[in-house]
Amino acid sequence: MRLAGATPGSAILDAGTGTGRHALELAEAGYLVTGLDHAATLLTAARSASGGRPWPRFVQGDYDRLPFAEASFDAVLCLGSSLGYQGEAGDRAALAEFRRVLRPGGRLVIETFHRDELRQALPAHEERLLAGGARLRFSRSFDASVGVLREEQQLVRPTGAETLRSYEVRLYRPGELCLLLHRAGFANVSYHGRLAPSPRAGSSAPLVVLADTIAPTPHRAAMDLARSGHTQYGYPQGVMLRSMDLPRMRTLWSDRMSTTSEKSYTVQGMTCGHCELSVREEVEELAGIESADADRGTGRLVVRGEAIDDAAVRGAVQAAGYELVA
Ligand SMILES: C[S@@+](CC[C@H](N)C(=O)[O-])C[C@H]1O[C@@H](n2cnc3c(N)ncnc32)[C@H](O)[C@@H]1O
Repeated sequence: MRLAGATPGSAILDAGTGTGRHALELAEAGYLVTGLDHAATLLTAARSASGGRPWPRFVQGDYDRLPFAEASFDAVLCLGSSLGYQGEAGDRAALAEFRRVLRPGGRLVIETFHRDELRQALPAHEERLLAGGARLRFSRSFDASVGVLREEQQLVRPTGAETLRSYEVRLYRPGELCLLLHRAGFANVSYHGRLAPSPRAGSSAPLVVLADTIAPTPHRAAMDLARSGHTQYGYPQGVMLRSMDLPRMRTLWSDRMSTTSEKSYTVQGMTCGHCELSVREEVEELAGIESADADRGTGRLVVRGEAIDDAAVRGAVQAAGYELVA
């Protein structure tokens, strides 16, 4: 709740509460928590765990159509990777709803997976042996063009009977989420590596994102990003190289200069530091690109690399949510 900036007695919405593991603890600590979920079975378990106490109250509903009046909550929590299951359009609707039900000055806290780190952490194929001898097989594929992870789970019982289920989830990079948050009317977006001082076992690659309903202060977004430890070119931002082997750097640099070229483009619609970041991240993912710099002031995107493909750059800029100006 320190991240949410809320104190006991505040009205909190736990969107996608599941069995209420966060809602129950927060109610115990004196918060007026409403846990919302669309899964009736999970809510039944949550209600039975609450033992009939007045808080938390549990409500069945969809977080992209919240059954609450505007400005009803001091903070909205969306924890434990509850976003992404209805695709990006569903998440846009959910963020707009979170914004609507927050009071002025309220804060949204999202805990989810970082797209790139989760991709690295999850193998394409995995098999787990379950109690009783059943086997659970996972097949995963990731569509980088839309940021969607598809997972197929095959449960093979000892009798040989099989059950198959599959789902898709939209995974985000910080810059992508930031863009959606800005479009939903949030400001002062910042990133944290985890919710608690020590992560739960199995909570690989959490990404915690905070966003305020207050107006942004100048350059605040860029400063938050710098403080967040977000990495650029493999180094955490804010870390300085203390010593450099200058002769070697010169040789490396001149070798590189002979093969790399630089192109510049104009991008429409970048309005903040996070917009620059999402454009840069998408472009730097392209094969043959070494680095990219985006400047919201001039709209300039400068790309360096050994093989710069204009069409691929255009596609990457579009994937970040912007347009190249011809
Ligand atoms: C991974 S669980 C996390 C549950 C809980 N927040 C936690 O951390 O234990 C995701 C939850 O989001 C809920 N959920 C997903 N989409 C939803 C939607 N559109 N509206 C409401 N709940 C949703 C699911 O039913 C599920 O309980």
